[in-house]
Amino acid sequence: MDDADLEEATLRPLVERFYERVRNDKLLAPVFAEAVSDWGDHHRRLADFWSSVMLTSGRYKGNPLALHLRLADVLTPETFERWLALWRTTTDEMVPPHVARAMQAKAARIAESFQLAIRYRRPVAA
Ligand code: HEM
Repeated sequence: MDDADLEEATLRPLVERFYERVRNDKLLAPVFAEAVSDWGDHHRRLADFWSSVMLTSGRYKGNPLALHLRLADVLTPETFERWLALWRTTTDEMVPPHVARAMQAKAARIAESFQLAIRYRRPVAA
């Protein structure tokens, strides 16, 4: 994957379109409404995240697993399926097919690792 395949400038609109769908989804909207107050900041962090994942820009600094572990009780297999379905629709719509496939595969692997971590999580010592 290089700049010719996926342009940095595409990431922010892609992320915004995805979360527009998320906010209109009955299952996912409440999870995000509870956790995200500054959508501009969330979009920026997610654009940085995908820039780091797909273009190895190193722009994202954060710990998504820790954040998702905190949401463990509401992150059911059904919510993951829905999240991935909306991601599929949005990437198919907004980037070339081979890029969409790569972004979908990445998301699926990360979702799988979150779900494994949630399933096998240990209580954190106080
Ligand atoms: C069931 C599916 C998912 C739900 C409901 C969900 C929900 C959330 C929520 C509510 C936040 C905000 C957390 C906070 O700021 O306190 C968040 C952040 C984030 N999520 Fe997810 N997520 C899901 C799957 C994924 C997947 C599959 C990925 C990666 C491909 C991902 C990547 C991220 C990233 C990078 C952040 C930002 C972390 C930061 O602010 O540094 N999420 N997610």
